[in-house]
Amino acid sequence: MLIDTHSHIFKEYYDDIEAVLNRAKENGVEKVVVAADNIKSCYEVIENSKKYNNYYYCLGIHPEDVDDDFNELVKIIEENKDNPKFVAIGEIGLDYYWTKDTKEKQIELFEKQLQLAEKYNKPVIVHSREATLDTQTILSKYNVVVDIHCFSGSKETADIYIKRGYYIGVGGVFTFKNSNLKDVIKNIPLDNILLETDSPYLAPVPHRGNPNEPAYIKDIAEYLSSIKNIDIEEIKEKTSQNATKIFNI
Ligand code: NI
Repeated sequence: MLIDTHSHIFKEYYDDIEAVLNRAKENGVEKVVVAADNIKSCYEVIENSKKYNNYYYCLGIHPEDVDDDFNELVKIIEENKDNPKFVAIGEIGLDYYWTKDTKEKQIELFEKQLQLAEKYNKPVIVHSREATLDTQTILSKYNVVVDIHCFSGSKETADIYIKRGYYIGVGGVFTFKNSNLKDVIKNIPLDNILLETDSPYLAPVPHRGNPNEPAYIKDIAEYLSSIKNIDIEEIKEKTSQNATKIFNI
């Protein structure tokens, strides 16, 4: 079994969500975790999860949507807190690449969402871009299980996260030909790795240039197997165990 631990399967990107989820199943990807990124997509993921049995969801406001209504997020989370398909707070974090000018607001929102994760005992899916130090400092203040989504940092950063027991989201980027992420990923223990696509973005080799989708977790698993020189079955088993544990699915 394989699990896609991070995707954005929304109507905005896919005309036929059912077909996407079926292709995932056909490729051994039994469960798909979908991260909301704003209030609108929070509502959509909840609705979609009712229609599709392999569709699990995270609720949160992405740093690019920092002006969305936090109080409404609190209301949505409160209403859905006991739903077993609601598996994490995400996608949340800091992005100083696209939106440096909202830094203060981003930090405030990030901390408020981390407090929600503590309150409701949910893991967090963290987006961190050009904000490594602030991300590390802020996360260290909260007692939460952390998934660093789409990890693309240095070996030093990976070591800090591993030491803290965080999970590290591994996806299409490290399969790119000129990626120097390979050497970093190669040395991350399998116990800390979660496989993710971040669909519809960042399709792995050999699908580059096309929209990404959860079925391609298979390609990411195979690539990880080749660079780590670990049997594919072990990669599948261990990463699925990690995902099952963190999300309780
Ligand atoms: Ni994402």
